[in-house]
Amino acid sequence: MAQDFNVTPWEVKGKVDYDKLIVQFGTQKLTEELKEKTRRLINDELHVMLRRNVFFSHRDYDLILKDYEEGKGFFLYTGRAPSLGMHIGHLIPFIFTKWLQDKFKVNVYIELTDDEKFMRNLDYSLDQTRQWAYDNILDIIAVGFDPDKTFIFQDTEYIKNMYPVAIKIAKKLTFNEVRATFGLDTSSNIGIIFYPALQIAPTMFEHKRCLIPAGIDQDPYWRLQRDIAESLGYYKAAQIHSKFLPPLTGPEGKMSSSQPESAIYLTDGPETVKNKIMKYAFSGGQPTIELHRKYGGNPDIDVSFQWLYMFFEPDDSKIKKIEEEYRSGKMLTGELKSILVEKLNDFLIEHRNKREEAKKLVNTFKYEGELAREMWKKIHE
Ligand code: TYM
Repeated sequence: MAQDFNVTPWEVKGKVDYDKLIVQFGTQKLTEELKEKTRRLINDELHVMLRRNVFFSHRDYDLILKDYEEGKGFFLYTGRAPSLGMHIGHLIPFIFTKWLQDKFKVNVYIELTDDEKFMRNLDYSLDQTRQWAYDNILDIIAVGFDPDKTFIFQDTEYIKNMYPVAIKIAKKLTFNEVRATFGLDTSSNIGIIFYPALQIAPTMFEHKRCLIPAGIDQDPYWRLQRDIAESLGYYKAAQIHSKFLPPLTGPEGKMSSSQPESAIYLTDGPETVKNKIMKYAFSGGQPTIELHRKYGGNPDIDVSFQWLYMFFEPDDSKIKKIEEEYRSGKMLTGELKSILVEKLNDFLIEHRNKREEAKKLVNTFKYEGELAREMWKKIHE
C-alpha cells in the first residue's frame, strides 16, 4: 500500500505516523524502562520532552546509559544547516541537548554546515550561508550550553581538523550507498555526494560513544555511520530522535521557510506572534461557540494544544487542565490560542535577551572555551 507520509532530511510530507516510522527506519521505541533508568541515574525529574514522548525513538540509548553507569562516559553531538532565521522547531534538539549536558555533565559538539547549505541550494552564496551560521550560532548559544564543555564549529572553518577523519569515512562509503540513502542521482553535484562524510565525522571526535539528539529526519546519516564506524575503530553512534513540532497550518508536514505562515521565527515580535497564531494556528475546535460548548474541541489535532503539550506548558497539572477544559467545550479555541500566544511571547522575549548576551560569547564557544581550545590544538598534533 502506498504510504501517506514521507520523511527525509529535506522534506516531511503528510501526517507522520511515528510508530510506523520506527519500523520503517529500524529504530527502537524509547521505553518507560529506559526513561525510568534515566530518571534514576540523574536523580531528577525528566525533561518535559521525555515525559511527553517528544523524544520517542532511539538507537543504543540503553548502551549510552550503561556506559555512563560504568563510568566510561559518552559525548553529545548535534547540528544545524544554517539558514536565514531559525524557527521554534529548530530549537527542540538544542534545548534537549543542553538538558542532557546539564544532567550528565558531558561534552557537546555542535556542527554548523555552512557547506551543506551552500552546496544544496543553487540560490545561496557561500558568504550568505557563513553569515547565517554566525546568526544561528547566537540562537544556539542563547539556549545556555556550558562554555567549557561545548564546541561550536562551522565546517568551512574547522575542515582542516575534520578532513582526516572525513576521508577515512568517505573511503568506506560507495556512491551507490549514498545515492540510495539520500536519493541522489548522477546529475547531483559532487559536493553533496561527499557531504555525508562531514556530517558523520563529528561522531568520531572522541573515542567514547556518541549520542545524537536530533529530529528523526536526520536518521539516514546515522544509518551509514553505523555501517562503518566499527571498521574504523569507533563506536556506532547512538541516537535519540524527536518528533516534529507541527506547522501552524495543520498536523501535516513540518514548518517550512518557504511558507512563513507555517512557522514562528525566533525573531517574530509579540504582534506578529499573536496575528499568526490567531489567523493560522489549525484548530481542533467546532465551527460555532454553541457547537463547541456542546461537543468540545479535539486537542489531538489542535496545533496550539500540540505546541503547548510538546514545548510551552511543561507543568503537567496545567496541561491536563487545559486538555480537559478544551475537550469538554469549557475552553474555547480563542482562549486556548491566547494561552499559547502569551507563553510563546514570554519565551521569545527571554530568548532574544539571551541572544544579545550571546554576542559576547561567540569566541568562547568557537575558539576559547576549554573544549574549543582542546579541539583546535589537535591541528598541530
Ligand atoms: P536542520 O538545520 O534542517 O535542522 C536542525 C535540527 O532541527 C531539527 N528540526 C526540527 N525538530 C523539531 N521540529 C521541527 N519542526 C524541526 N525542524 C527541524 C532537525 O531534525 C535537526 O535536528 N544536516 C543537518 C545539520 C546537521 C545535524 C548534525 C543535525 C549537521 N550535523 C547532527 C543533527 C545532528 C540539517 O540540515 O539540520
